[in-house]
Amino acid sequence: MIKENFPLKNYNTFGIEATAQYFAEFNAVEKLEELLEFKQLSTVINQPKTFILGGGSNILLTGNVEGLVLKNEIKGIEKVGEDGDYIFIKAGAGENWHQLVLYCIDNNIAGMENLSLIPGNVGASPMQNIGAYGVELKDVFYELEAFHLTEKKVVKFSLTDCHFGYRESVFKSQLKDKFIILRVTYRLHKTPHFNIRYGAIEQELQAMGIKQLSIQAISQAVINIRRSKLPDPAVIGNAGSFFKNPEIDTHQFDLLKISFPGMIGYALENGNVKLAAGWLIEQCGWKGYRKGDAGCHAKQALVLVNYGNAKGSEILSLSNDIIASVQQKFNVLLQKEVNIIKGFEAC
Ligand code: FAD
Ligand code: EPU
Repeated sequence: MIKENFPLKNYNTFGIEATAQYFAEFNAVEKLEELLEFKQLSTVINQPKTFILGGGSNILLTGNVEGLVLKNEIKGIEKVGEDGDYIFIKAGAGENWHQLVLYCIDNNIAGMENLSLIPGNVGASPMQNIGAYGVELKDVFYELEAFHLTEKKVVKFSLTDCHFGYRESVFKSQLKDKFIILRVTYRLHKTPHFNIRYGAIEQELQAMGIKQLSIQAISQAVINIRRSKLPDPAVIGNAGSFFKNPEIDTHQFDLLKISFPGMIGYALENGNVKLAAGWLIEQCGWKGYRKGDAGCHAKQALVLVNYGNAKGSEILSLSNDIIASVQQKFNVLLQKEVNIIKGFEAC
C-alpha cells in the first residue's frame, strides 16, 4: 500500500522531522516491480523519483522527500553453500545488520564479529562498505543481487564489480541511484581468524578477563567499546561518524606534525596517511558544542547529534561550519560520510 505525506521521524536515526511524498514497503522483487509502476509518480512529478530506505542510520534529511520512498523489507538468512574453509550465508537486504552478525556468532561462523552493533540493514552494508575495528564489509563479501530500476532486471555483482573503497562502493559513485540491493551473500570462515589489532579491543578483552579468544568474546568487546563511545540513536539522534577520516600524503603530514605534534595519523598501504577527523574537529573547539538542538557529541567529535528538535538544515549548516574551520586551521578538507538527502521543502 502506498501512503502519502508519510512521517519519517521514526525512520531516520537522526530523528529529523520530515515527510515522504509517497512511502511504501516491499518484501519481494515482484512487489517492488508493482510499486515502480505507480502511475501517480509520473503524472504528479516531472521526473519520477525513488529513494531506497534501509534502517535510516546513515542519512541526513534536509527536506521533505520528493517521490516514492521505498523501504526494503526483504528478509531471510540462509546458508547457501560451503567448502573446506568457508561458509556462504545469504541475507535479505531488509534484515537488521546486527541480527545477522549475532546469527553468525551463534552458529560459530567467523568473520563478522568486529562489525558487531553497527546500526542499519544488510542492504546498505555493501553500499557503504561498512567498517569498524580493523574489518570492512569487503573482507567478508562474496556477491550480491540488485534490481536495475529502469531496465527492471536483477543483476549479480561480484567483489570486483562493487569497487569497494573506504566507505565507498560503485553504488555510491558510477551506479548511484541505479540499483536496489536485494540480497547479499557473505563468505565467512569455518575457523576463526581473530583480528584484535585495533588497540582498544585488546585492552577491552583484558578488562573483561578473557583468557581464551573467541568470536563471542571479540563481539562483546566491540559492543562494550562502541557503547562507551557512541551515542545510542534511541537516546540522542545521530548517524555515526558524520565525516570520513581524511587521507593526506606523508609530506603534508610531516609539515603538519611540526605545527601540531599531537596530530594522530595512521600509515596506509598506499604510502599516504589517514588522519583522525575526530581529533582535528576537537582541536578546532567543536567537541561538546551545541547550538539549539544541533551539536557535536561530547565524547566523539566525529559524531553530530540532534538533541531533540534540530532541523536537518541546522545539522547540515553545523557540518559545513566544522568543515570550514578544519580547512582553515589544518588546510585539510573533510568529506561527509553521511548521505545528505535533499528535499522539496527545507526541514
Ligand atoms: P540507510 O541510512 O537507510 O541508507 C544509507 C544509504 O544507502 C542511502 O543512500 C540509501 O538510499 C542506500 N541504501 C540503503 N539500502 C539500500 C538498498 N537495499 N539498495 C540500494 N541502496 C540502499 N558505519 C560504519 O561503517 N561503521 C560504523 O562503525 C558505524 N557506526 C555507526 C554508529 C551509529 C550510532 C550510527 C547511527 C551509525 C553508524 N554507522 C557506521 C553508519 C551506518 O550504520 C551504516 O552506514 C549502515 O550501513 C547504514 O545502513 P542503513 O540500512 O541504516 O542505511
Ligand atoms: N579522537 C579524538 N577526539 C575525538 C574523537 C576521536 O582525538 O573526539 C581520536 C581518538 O582518540 C583516536 C582516533 O581519534 O585516537 C580515532 O578515534 P576512534 O577510534 O573513536 O575512531 P574514529 O576514527 O573516530 C572510525 C570509524 C567508525 C568506526 C571506528 C572504529 C570513520 C569515519 N569512522 O571512527 O565508524 O566505528 O573507527 O573502527 O572511519 C561510522 O563510519 O559511522 C563509524 C562510527
